[in-house]
Amino acid sequence: MEQTKNKAAIDMEVGPDGRLYLLEYGKGWFSKNADAGITRIDYMAGNRPPKVDSLVVDKESGTLPLTISAQVKAKDPENDALTYVWKIGTQTQETKDPVLKYTIKQAGEYPVSVEVMDAEKASSKSSEVTVYAGNEQPQVDISVQGNKSFYFAGKPIQYQVKVVDRGDSVSTSNLFIGADFLQGNEDLASEGHQIVPPEIMGKNIMMSSDCKSCHKVNEKSIGPSFTQIAQRRKTELRPNNYIMDVILKGSSGKWGENVMPAHPTMKGGDAKQIAEFILSLASDKVKRKSLPPTGTVTPKPQITQKQNTYFAINASYTDLGAAGVKPLTGAKRVILKSNIIDAGQIKTMTGFTSKDSSGNKYLVFPAREGFLQVTKVDLTGIRSITLMGGSNGANANYTIEIRTNSATGSIIGQGELMVANNKPVSLAVPIQPSVNGDMQAVFIAVRTNGALSGNVLLKTVRFNP
Ligand code: HEC
Repeated sequence: MEQTKNKAAIDMEVGPDGRLYLLEYGKGWFSKNADAGITRIDYMAGNRPPKVDSLVVDKESGTLPLTISAQVKAKDPENDALTYVWKIGTQTQETKDPVLKYTIKQAGEYPVSVEVMDAEKASSKSSEVTVYAGNEQPQVDISVQGNKSFYFAGKPIQYQVKVVDRGDSVSTSNLFIGADFLQGNEDLASEGHQIVPPEIMGKNIMMSSDCKSCHKVNEKSIGPSFTQIAQRRKTELRPNNYIMDVILKGSSGKWGENVMPAHPTMKGGDAKQIAEFILSLASDKVKRKSLPPTGTVTPKPQITQKQNTYFAINASYTDLGAAGVKPLTGAKRVILKSNIIDAGQIKTMTGFTSKDSSGNKYLVFPAREGFLQVTKVDLTGIRSITLMGGSNGANANYTIEIRTNSATGSIIGQGELMVANNKPVSLAVPIQPSVNGDMQAVFIAVRTNGALSGNVLLKTVRFNP
């Protein structure tokens, strides 16, 4: 099993069936690990089935007719020629190539999967990718005016959110925009944060289902109004589960003569979101409000948090779906970092060394020369860069050069830093205004003029507007 990689194995036992079971914690620490799980290890003599690595579908949603191209990566341990049996909804197609082109003509949800078979008909199945035909995922975009890498505490950020939803008109009541500092454990890399409250999602799912032919929100129809239902059922022990159950299994005799049909093909998760929507009609909780599509947000100066927090603007939009097709959500996130960069956050440097002092991180200036690198910086609107720190028994004089893109890149600013024994250090180096708005690396190169004793400490680097 030399190719088998495990993801933090924490226990292994032989089960009553004689097979080996491996428990893996996953790679993250104290987080919801998508790669955590129990794996069963079987011994197989003779021919082994192909191994499926991945299934990728180029489009997971789109308007009709929707032509998709699915590609599977699979290998056979014996290098047999492989046959691919594809499932697209209820349709089956066989190919000799690991690629399938298929056109969906009817709206709906199509689970796509493939079974890969070797010459002796030993096979493995891929995971399932759901394709939503008849509705395209909305595209959400956030544009921010001014600097694209930094926020400046107390300074308003002007933003604009645009939604493109092909084949649908855009209703701003389904657009949710929020802005806040990121919590320490949030994933910086994540594309967008789904911030649609479940009751809004539930309403949209309800609208794309058959409910509205028998139910109205406020008036009695063939069935009772959703508001009436919410009022009567909010006192159930678990109102959510109660309503979810009714939706899936149907109901009769509780409100009158008419019968409520079951919804056996509806997913539990969808029914649950509809239940949230129905119950929200009886709740007097203040509904979460969205920021307007165009406006300003002002990151407050942070007193309790570390200086280096990230500020994020999130936007997500859920469309209405269509008959038989679930609503889809598109999301986008813009992350701005504080213009005050703590020395502890700077990871790339030469000549400098790090120093911890009562929980604070400092960088010690080099005895001769060196540089620091700050990555992904937009210099738009930045007029100067301030170095702040202190002197620990040192009298010194440094030449500072600010360069872009590399340690030998073009110089955009220069200054002389005079350090006096046990005095605070602070130098604002003016820089040339940037015109291109690109994200670039900024190099701060330092060089002593003369001998040095003691330590010069850097605490923060500040990009000043
Ligand atoms: C063909 C008509 C029809 C459709 C379609 C329908 N309902 Fe109903 N629904 C009814 C009727 C009639 C009742 C009252 C049944 C009874 O008296 O027990 C009802 C009752 C309910 C109740 C309350 C049950 C209770 O015990 O208080 C809920 C919740 C509900 N429907 C949700 C939905 C949702 C959500 C959908 C769509 C996914 C839906 N219904 C689709 C006719 C319908």
